[in-house]
Amino acid sequence: NVVLRNGTEVFHSWESPPLPVYTQFYFFNVTNPEEILRGERPLLEEVGPYTYREIRNKANIQFGDNGTTISAVSNKTYVFERNQSVGDPKVDLIRTLNIPALTAMEWTRNALLRDIIEAVLRTYEEKLFITRPVHELLWGYKDQLLSLIHPFRPDISPYFGLFYEKNGTNDGDYVFLTGEDSYLNFTKIVEWNGKTSLDWWATDKCNMINGTDGDSFHPLITKDEVLYVFPSDFCRSVYITFSDYESIEGLPAFRYKVPAEILANTSENAGFCLPDGNCLGSGVLNVSICKNGAPIIMSFPHFYQADEKFISAIRGLHPNKEDHETFVDINPLTGIILRAAKRFQINIYVHKLDDFIETGDIQTMVFPVMYLNESVLIDKETASRLKSVINTTLIVTNIPYIIMALGVFFGLMFTWLACRGQGSMDEGTADERAPLIRT
Ligand SMILES: *[C@@H]1O[C@H](CO)[C@@H](O)[C@H](O)[C@H]1NC(C)=O
Ligand SMILES: *[C@@H]1O[C@H](CO)[C@@H](O)[C@H](O)[C@H]1NC(C)=O
Ligand SMILES: *[C@@H]1O[C@H](CO)[C@@H](O)[C@H](O)[C@H]1NC(C)=O
Ligand SMILES: *[C@@H]1O[C@H](CO)[C@@H](O)[C@H](O)[C@H]1NC(C)=O
Ligand SMILES: *[C@@H]1O[C@H](CO)[C@@H](O)[C@H](O)[C@H]1NC(C)=O
Ligand SMILES: *[C@@H]1O[C@H](CO)[C@@H](O)[C@H](O)[C@H]1NC(C)=O
Ligand SMILES: *[C@@H]1O[C@H](CO)[C@@H](O)[C@H](O)[C@H]1NC(C)=O
Ligand SMILES: *[C@@H]1O[C@H](CO)[C@@H](O)[C@H](O)[C@H]1NC(C)=O
Ligand SMILES: *[C@@H]1O[C@H](CO)[C@@H](O)[C@H](O)[C@H]1NC(C)=O
Repeated sequence: NVVLRNGTEVFHSWESPPLPVYTQFYFFNVTNPEEILRGERPLLEEVGPYTYREIRNKANIQFGDNGTTISAVSNKTYVFERNQSVGDPKVDLIRTLNIPALTAMEWTRNALLRDIIEAVLRTYEEKLFITRPVHELLWGYKDQLLSLIHPFRPDISPYFGLFYEKNGTNDGDYVFLTGEDSYLNFTKIVEWNGKTSLDWWATDKCNMINGTDGDSFHPLITKDEVLYVFPSDFCRSVYITFSDYESIEGLPAFRYKVPAEILANTSENAGFCLPDGNCLGSGVLNVSICKNGAPIIMSFPHFYQADEKFISAIRGLHPNKEDHETFVDINPLTGIILRAAKRFQINIYVHKLDDFIETGDIQTMVFPVMYLNESVLIDKETASRLKSVINTTLIVTNIPYIIMALGVFFGLMFTWLACRGQGSMDEGTADERAPLIRT
């Protein structure tokens, strides 16, 4: 049965996903800081990948409502892979925007500690650009400005990093449906951090938490189906739609893609334009509201599928489908992910602020900082096991048998994993303090 039940193989592979997931980080190195401050276009140089292997596991698992729901957290640990990276993240330096300073400038606009922050910014003449090792930009460094603000606002951490406190931690408490009521509801999210919907956006539809977390899908997928996913780092639910038939290691797959409409300037997306009516254009999402006021704008890498104005404002961007599109190849019978690539870019909204000379004559723009590619690919051995299960099943085209066969497959996969032996890993403790910026 494709239901999360204690002791079953489906449960075990959900608890510790068997396939290795890799996250590759690409940074944009700023080559012409003086010119940018004089109002010229930035010239950016892409540096990467810096590749990390993700170790994932679910913890704090509890069944509820007679086994129809399950609550859990998803812990992720990142381990650097030197031989799949361009350099050493502790050595390689990247020049990029000083995100803590830009965030503090935004805070003053909202009257948060205005006098203190203005005084500190004047005294220390924080530069608009900083040069830091990749490791610090990702996993955190002690920032001078934030350290000075910290005594006045203990909830603001003195550390900053795009993935600060994301190693060995989780993205919140989830309640999922186990699939006990219907296989269509397998691992569907019902609650996140104690809430059934978000409260950041302007409309109820925009605030809905739809679908699964993207790590699993229900079996028997049809190509007319729209699949919903809630990636918490994106601060909203998205959907994926069928685009192509694929074949991976001889297994049939449906390619589902995030369509351009997700970030398009349309009436459906108007509720994501904050403040109300303030749409920036197609291909970008202002997530400042869920990043403690940091002026963070999400997009696809290199502004893939965004308005031309975003791409032409920057020199050195080359959006293309091959490298920058987000897709997932799902085996339609089992709902198992055979291959996937989740890709998004973190940008900062910059504009000239008369109160802060640090911003010079900079043009108003959405400035790329980094993008990532989180990917997974089924290995040959798992694929051939899955194939034999499917071949057996196809002879008996009957849904209960398919579901039974899936149980067998998960059983095989689990045994195989157990034989290989998995390294034990630490369960990271979730830090209660909210970090400044979470991606
Ligand atoms: C699953 O069952 C085992 C053994 O019966 C038990 O130790 C464990 O706590 C159970 N897990 C959950 C999440 O209920
Ligand atoms: C659990 O099942 C029992 C017996 O079937 C029922 O009486 C009870 O109301 C159910 N509880 C919930 C929370 O569904
Ligand atoms: C993440 O934490 C693990 C275990 O604590 C450690 O081995 C690993 O090096 C850390 N990764 C990074 C990028 O710091
Ligand atoms: C990369 O390094 C790992 C061990 O850290 C090793 O298992 C793997 O085979 C190496 N891959 C390549 C392509 O060299
Ligand atoms: C990025 O630019 C800085 C400043 O020019 C330079 O020192 C650094 O080596 C560059 N980093 C990489 C990885 O090329
Ligand atoms: C799936 O779960 C929802 C509640 O989230 C419920 O209303 C619906 O009936 C379930 N679907 C099926 C097919 O059981
Ligand atoms: C969530 O799903 C409903 C349909 O079930 C849809 O109307 C709504 O737009 C979706 N919201 C998001 C943010 O995807
Ligand atoms: C978004 O669409 C509306 C209506 O179609 C249009 O008036 C507006 O100029 C667009 N905004 C941007 C930033 O492209
Ligand atoms: C982004 O959203 C924040 C908070 O909702 C808002 O204050 C800010 O003005 C928005 N930024 C832009 C560039 O629209």
